Amino acid sequence: MVKILGLAGSLRKKSFNRMLLRMAVGKAKEGGAKTEIFDLNAIPVYNQDVEDKGYPKEVVKLRRAVENADGLIIATPEYNHSYSGVLKNAIDWLSRPPKVLKGKTIAVLGASTGRFGSVRAQRDLKPVLSYLDNNVLPQPEVMVSNAEEVFDEKGMLNDKRIGEQVEKLVARLLETMEK
Ligand code: FNR
Repeated sequence: MVKILGLAGSLRKKSFNRMLLRMAVGKAKEGGAKTEIFDLNAIPVYNQDVEDKGYPKEVVKLRRAVENADGLIIATPEYNHSYSGVLKNAIDWLSRPPKVLKGKTIAVLGASTGRFGSVRAQRDLKPVLSYLDNNVLPQPEVMVSNAEEVFDEKGMLNDKRIGEQVEKLVARLLETMEK
C-alpha cells in the first residue's frame, strides 16, 4: 500500500489550501493509499545553530513523516506572487541531511483568492522541490482561482471541474508511484 503525506502551506484554520489538500488526500485514500496530513504549525523557523544542536522535536516528526511516505501532496497558497514562507521553511528543514525529499513523487496544487489561482506560487515552488532530487509531477495542473467562490462554509468544493482536475492529479500521482 502506498503512503501519501499531505502538507499545506497556509496555517489558518479556514485556509482554502487546507480544504483543497483535505480533498486531494481524501481522493488518494479512496484510491487505496494510506494517508496522513502533517500540520506545519509547530515547525520552528530554520536556524542552522539550532540544527547544529540537533533537529527540534517537531522537525524530527516532520522529517520522519516525509521519510515514511512514498509520495506527497502539497497545497500552496500564493503570497506576493510566490509560495508561502511556511512551505519554504519546511522545505529548508527537509533539505538538510539526510535529504528526505529525495526520490519522492510530489503532486503540487494550490488555491488563491486572486484571478491566477496560485500559478505564480506553483511556478516558484516546483523547481525548488525538483532541486531536491525528486519527481514533481508537471501535470495535470490544479490552480484554483477565486477560492472563496469555490468552497462553501463547510469547506466543501462546489465546482465540478476543479473536483475532476484534483481527481486526475491524484490518479497520476498514484499511477506514477506504482510504476
Ligand atoms: C495574499 N493573497 C494573494 N493572492 C494571490 O492570488 N496572489 C498574491 O500574490 C497574493 N498575495 C498575498 C500575500 C499575503 C501575505 C496574503 C496573506 C495573501 C491572497 C491569498 O490568495 C488568500 O489570502 C488565500 O486565501 C490564502 O490561502 P489560504 O490561507 O486560504 O489557504
